[in-house]
Amino acid sequence: MTVELHSGSEVETRAIGRRLASFLGPGDVVLLAGELGAGKTAFAGGLAEGLGIEEPVISPTFVLVRRYAGGFTPLTHADVYRLSSLNELDDLDLFEGSRDGILIVEWGNSVASAMPNDHLRVEIDVTGPSDRLLRLVPHGVWTTRSLKEIVE
Ligand SMILES: Nc1ncnc2c1ncn2[C@@H]1O[C@H](COP(=O)(O)OP(=O)(O)O)[C@@H](O)[C@H]1O
Ligand SMILES: [Mg+2]
Repeated sequence: MTVELHSGSEVETRAIGRRLASFLGPGDVVLLAGELGAGKTAFAGGLAEGLGIEEPVISPTFVLVRRYAGGFTPLTHADVYRLSSLNELDDLDLFEGSRDGILIVEWGNSVASAMPNDHLRVEIDVTGPSDRLLRLVPHGVWTTRSLKEIVE
């Protein structure tokens, strides 16, 4: 079931990310889709807070992958938005290296085919200067998990 949420500020987007953290466990993969400036990194930062990570999540511009070990569960945050080829993605060793924790990927369509089937996709649409529509779309095993409580 797809869950749709409206956000009117960066603070709200972070809060949704924070709430999602309680639904996640080791091995889970979250893919963030949305144009540059949509709020993918803000969402990832909120999710990290929800996992008890105190270090601020920054845009991994030069280093494409960052690992945060200070929370309840390790978090791997990757930004493959600018990657143009699947070869470059292979070099990152993203999936093997993050199995023990949660993996959150800011992604682009060019690497879509390499993403695991089991994932929660969070699509962020820019609907106004500070308005966003967030769509949580389950794929694979995620279709059997309930996200209903996240809107309550
Ligand atoms: N509702 C909102 N949710 C998230 N970010 C917002 C929102 N409204 C405005 N913004 C702004 O949009 C930008 C989002 O940046 P960022 O999270 O780095 O995006 P991305 O990682 O998708 O490129 C920030 O400057 C943030 O303050
Ligand atoms: Mg970003």
